[in-house]
Amino acid sequence: MSKAATEINDIINRAENILKKIEALGRLPNQTKSLNHKFSGKQAEDLVKRSYQSIGRAEKLLIQNGLMEAIERNAKTGRILGYSLKQINQLRKHFKTFPKRDEKTDDCLTIAIQSFKGGVGKTVSAVTLAQYFALQGYRILLVDLDSQATTTSTFGYIPDRDISFEDTCLPYFEGKQDNLKYCIRKTYWDQLDLIPSNLQIYHLEYALSQAMGSMTMDERKEMFQELKNGLEPIKDNYDMIIIDSPPALGIASINILCAADAIIVPTPPSMYDFSSTIQFFRMISEVLEAIMPDKDYLFIKILATKVNLQQITHQDFLSVMKDVFGEKLFSSLFLRTAEIENASSNFQTILEEARPQKRALDIVKRVCSDIEKEVWKNWPSKKEILSELGEFVLEEAV
Ligand SMILES: Nc1ncnc2c1ncn2[C@@H]1O[C@H](COP(=O)(O)OP(=O)(O)O)[C@@H](O)[C@H]1O
Ligand SMILES: [Mg+2]
Repeated sequence: MSKAATEINDIINRAENILKKIEALGRLPNQTKSLNHKFSGKQAEDLVKRSYQSIGRAEKLLIQNGLMEAIERNAKTGRILGYSLKQINQLRKHFKTFPKRDEKTDDCLTIAIQSFKGGVGKTVSAVTLAQYFALQGYRILLVDLDSQATTTSTFGYIPDRDISFEDTCLPYFEGKQDNLKYCIRKTYWDQLDLIPSNLQIYHLEYALSQAMGSMTMDERKEMFQELKNGLEPIKDNYDMIIIDSPPALGIASINILCAADAIIVPTPPSMYDFSSTIQFFRMISEVLEAIMPDKDYLFIKILATKVNLQQITHQDFLSVMKDVFGEKLFSSLFLRTAEIENASSNFQTILEEARPQKRALDIVKRVCSDIEKEVWKNWPSKKEILSELGEFVLEEAV
C-alpha cells in the first residue's frame, strides 16, 4: 500500500470511530425516526378541508368502526394531543378530500430537482417538497440518486450502514431486476415512499461509463432511458415522483433528464451559481439534441434558493435572474433562514419540527404551493381550481 493510501485509511478509521461515538450520543439519525408532529383541530380543518364539527362526528364513526385509531391524549390532563398524518389521511379518505390527480385525465408527474453544483439547495428543496406534498395528501415517491445520500439520511438512515447495494437502484441498472419496484420503501410519512441511495451509487457512473465504450449509439441511448423505463410501471401508484440529483454531469444525471417530465433548477442568486445554471442549460440542450431530439418538458423552471434579501449582492443578482429567466423563475423565493439550515444539519426539515417558526414555515408554504400550481397546470382536472385562483390556464391545442 502506498504512503498516501495508508494515510487515507488511517483518516477513515479515525473518522469512523468518531462517527460511532456521535451516533451513540444520538446526534445522527437512527432507523426508528418517526413523525412526531401532531396536527391541531384548526390545522386538521385546513388539511382535511372540513369543519371541526364534521371532523369530530366522522372521527367518532371511524374509530367505532376500527377505521381510525383513537386520538392520543395527554395522560394527565386528558387534552387531545392532535391528529397524526395517518389520521388526517383516514379523515380525507372518509370525506373524499384527497387532492390527488384524476387518474383518467392526469398523469403522474416526475419532477427532477437538478443542477450541476453542490450546495445550491437541491436536497433541501427535494425533501421539503416531497414532505409538503405528502402533507397535502398526495402520493409521493422520492428517489435519491446522489451518492452522498443526504435525502436518504433525512429519512433516518445512515446510508452506508443501513442501506445495502440490494436496497438501492443498482441491481436494476445491472439488469438483475425488471423495474424499480423492489427498492421502494415506506417512510414514517404516510403516503411518502423512498428509493434510497448510498455511496455505492457512484458505481453507476463508473461501471456504466466503462461499458459505454463498446456500445453502439442506439445501445447508449437505451442505457440513458433505464431510469425512465424502471419508473414506468410504478407511476400509476403515485401522483408525483420527485428525484434528488447528484451535482455532476454523468450517466445518472442524463438518465434523470430522460426520466423527468419537469425540471426545477435551484439557483442561489450569485454569479457562480447563475453561471453554473447557464452551463446546466447548455448541457440539457446538447443532451436533448444528441439523445432525445423529440423530448419535451412540461416545465423547466428556476427556483431562487438560499436568498438573503438583506444582502445587496443577492438583491442585485435576483434582478439579473428575473431579467434573464422571466417567467421561468418561480416568483416565490426560497429564502435563507437559520431555522431551515439548522433543521437540515440535524437531517430534518422544518415540516418535521413540533413547533416550526412561522416565518420559515411561510417561506416553505409559498415555494411549495407555487410549485403545486405549476403541477396543476398540467392536470386537466385542476383547471377549475386554477381559474378560481386567477391563474392563467393554457388551452389545449386543437
Ligand atoms: N433556504 C435555506 N436556508 C438556509 N440554509 C439552506 C437553505 N437551503 C439550503 N440550505 C443549506 O445549504 C446547504 C446545502 O443544501 P443542500 O440542499 O444539501 O444542497 P445540494 O443538495 O444542492 O448539495 C445545506 O447545509 C443547507 O442547510
Ligand atoms: Mg444534495
